[in-house]
Amino acid sequence: MSSIAETKPVEFDLPSSSAPASSCSTSLAWAKVPEQPSAAERADLKKEIKALLKARDAVLVAHYYVDAELQDLAEETGGCVSDSLEMARFGRESTHKNLVVAGVRFMGETSKILNPEKRVFMPDLEATCSLDLGCPAEEFAAFCDQHPDRTVVVYANTSAAVKARADWMVTSSIALDIVGHLHARGEKILWAPDRHLGQYIQRQTGADMILWQGSCLVHDEFKYEELKLLKEKHPGAMVLVHPESPAEVVAMADVVGSTTQLIKATQTSGVHEFIVATDNGILHKMRQAAPGKVLIEAPTAGNSATCKSCAHCPWMAMNGLRNLRDVLRDGFDSGVGEVLVDADLGRQAYRCIDRMLDFAKTHGISGPRGQNSVSDAHRGIGPA
Ligand code: 13P
Ligand code: SF4
Repeated sequence: MSSIAETKPVEFDLPSSSAPASSCSTSLAWAKVPEQPSAAERADLKKEIKALLKARDAVLVAHYYVDAELQDLAEETGGCVSDSLEMARFGRESTHKNLVVAGVRFMGETSKILNPEKRVFMPDLEATCSLDLGCPAEEFAAFCDQHPDRTVVVYANTSAAVKARADWMVTSSIALDIVGHLHARGEKILWAPDRHLGQYIQRQTGADMILWQGSCLVHDEFKYEELKLLKEKHPGAMVLVHPESPAEVVAMADVVGSTTQLIKATQTSGVHEFIVATDNGILHKMRQAAPGKVLIEAPTAGNSATCKSCAHCPWMAMNGLRNLRDVLRDGFDSGVGEVLVDADLGRQAYRCIDRMLDFAKTHGISGPRGQNSVSDAHRGIGPA
């Protein structure tokens, strides 16, 4: 059995300068995207950030969708750039006293929940996620109350309060393994919030799932018709799709997987050309991982589309060199940019995250940093 929860989808508007800033969530986010500093200022900022990271005993944990220079800086300073699963694991294993998370709010909160003794900062605390916004804790709790017989599995892209209500948290790189495991144990699943990822997991595992109706405003915009035309022009290209994309786009994929799994595919496949259906911030790491290969962005606009997001997450784009420097320089004294999670809520939310990390460990599911073999890194990915 499967069904879709009757919940109200969240609306998002164009990042248009004509729209009043208060009228929609994304125009607020786009308005806060920092301007790119000049080359000379960027060089100075990077020097300052490196020194401050040392002085603060802090490490930078970045996601693949943030600014390319922030990604490089994380790696150059002994931090990491990775998917949500590895960001959580890296933060927990780090011996540094403090963490700076360049990504979106749920990533900072997950780090804080896993490391209550560390101080966790973000360049901009208002960097959120449409999935998180579309799953308010009270409505979610009511949904859970209606289905007390189901195991509650939530995606990482949720608030601490939603996680506090969950039995398991998963990220895209481990969702199939965990839901497959629960299904094999005969458990029925309540899934939130991403409906596309939920449907994909349901199809792949055959699990009995009911789904919250959330979606990612970036991945929701990938268009089947335009992708089909693009594929006709590039018949030899491999199509790589993040599972937050609509089902008809996922159905065209050669590889469906988390950001890390998609990067690995460019690196390990013998194919020369790739069509990439995920946030275009990932292209930076793909170019480094697979130099010389041709990377084509999957279409988000065209005859059947209104381009709302153009394959870039406005909240990820809020992370910049200046606000990263500011939070390292001033945040430790002022508290600005510090991620705080209520201690009781944190303790409750900890269980579902810890359960996932423990599952990853006992099942040998690796992160992107070379602990395991490349074939391990392909666990959980598959064709549509
Ligand atoms: P990954 O865990 O695959 O990096 O995905 C996080 C995310 O927010 C994708 O939109
Ligand atoms: Fe959320 Fe989508 Fe942005 Fe990922 S890309 S953080 S799912 S809005």
